[in-house]
Amino acid sequence: AMFLDDSIGESVPGAQELVYAAALVLVALLIPRGILPAIEKGCRRLATWPGTSLEQKGPGPLGRLAAPPPRPSPLLRMPRRTLRQRLPQPSGTPVLEVDGVAKSFGANRVLSDVAFSVDAGRRVGIIGPNGAGKTTLFNIMTAHLRADSGRILFKGMPVDRMRAPRRYELGMSRTFQVPQGFHLMSPLDNVVVAAIGASMPDPMAASMDMLERVGLAGKALGELSALTTAEIKSLELARAMVSEPDLLLLDEPLAGLNEAERARFFETVDELVAPHAAIVVIEHSVRSLIQYVESVIALDEGRVIAQGPPEEVVSDPRVIEAYLGSRWMEHAGDQ
Ligand SMILES: Nc1ncnc2c1ncn2[C@@H]1O[C@H](COP(=O)(O)OP(=O)(O)OP(=O)(O)O)[C@@H](O)[C@H]1O
Ligand SMILES: [Mg+2]
Repeated sequence: AMFLDDSIGESVPGAQELVYAAALVLVALLIPRGILPAIEKGCRRLATWPGTSLEQKGPGPLGRLAAPPPRPSPLLRMPRRTLRQRLPQPSGTPVLEVDGVAKSFGANRVLSDVAFSVDAGRRVGIIGPNGAGKTTLFNIMTAHLRADSGRILFKGMPVDRMRAPRRYELGMSRTFQVPQGFHLMSPLDNVVVAAIGASMPDPMAASMDMLERVGLAGKALGELSALTTAEIKSLELARAMVSEPDLLLLDEPLAGLNEAERARFFETVDELVAPHAAIVVIEHSVRSLIQYVESVIALDEGRVIAQGPPEEVVSDPRVIEAYLGSRWMEHAGDQ
């Protein structure tokens, strides 16, 4: 800013214009498509980036140094440049088709030949013991991991070569088992990054509206460390919902919530999602889950061992067998 000061222009005639011109040329060379696409691209990366965990207590060391509470950056108030090419999926047609998906980590085969589909407007639960491969399956859907084989269609489009930010922009959104977020930013800015990542028309307004709808308007400009577990879950949901997704993936959204908060969580989800959207929920709280979803997929050791109506799946002998003797029973105990 010092270089652009008027005094320079006075002492050296024309210098100010020269500096401006040089700066413009530099920006044009470094960012040929203009600065806004670069910001949007960055936000798309950030929006889907599993970075620091929201569960960490308190702000990071830099957060403690920063005295004033975080304010939304004026850069983020810019209007969108790109139009979202988004079409809602007609009901009764699949939003998500997973076919023959397999994944190994070294010698550890985590998913084998997983296949299922989710129609528009449906809610599907995924259950299975710890380590069954549930989160890995989400990671493959959202391109946080690459499958070894198999295919994924999203709204009829093959997305296997599409990276996480693009899938997000197209309407695939998720929450994380370990909540993700940026500690040095306010709750509002955390949502704004997601809104820009999804190329929402008015990121700031959409984010504020979303925080209001999840009951966090009063804490929008505060610090992340001031949020309770339930509020962090609400913030995660706001981040996922601000993109108005056609497919919402929730990874253990009820973990850490008490009875009343659990009941409220799914109510909030229903208030926020569009009728045509599909929801897939990984959840260990089977009792809460089966009251909410219309069908359940049971995974064990990376294979689909049962799928269908919730009551049928949870009373399937193979499903009970898979859970008996597994660490899942520890989870079942606290429900
Ligand atoms: N990035 C990774 N690198 C190596 N192994 C991994 C990785 N992610 C997951 N695994 C392994 O893959 C298996 C499945 O893990 P995953 O997280 O998908 O299970 P899960 O069904 O979500 O379990 P939980 O109910 O405990 O969350 C586990 O054995 C896990 O250790
Ligand atoms: Mg998991």
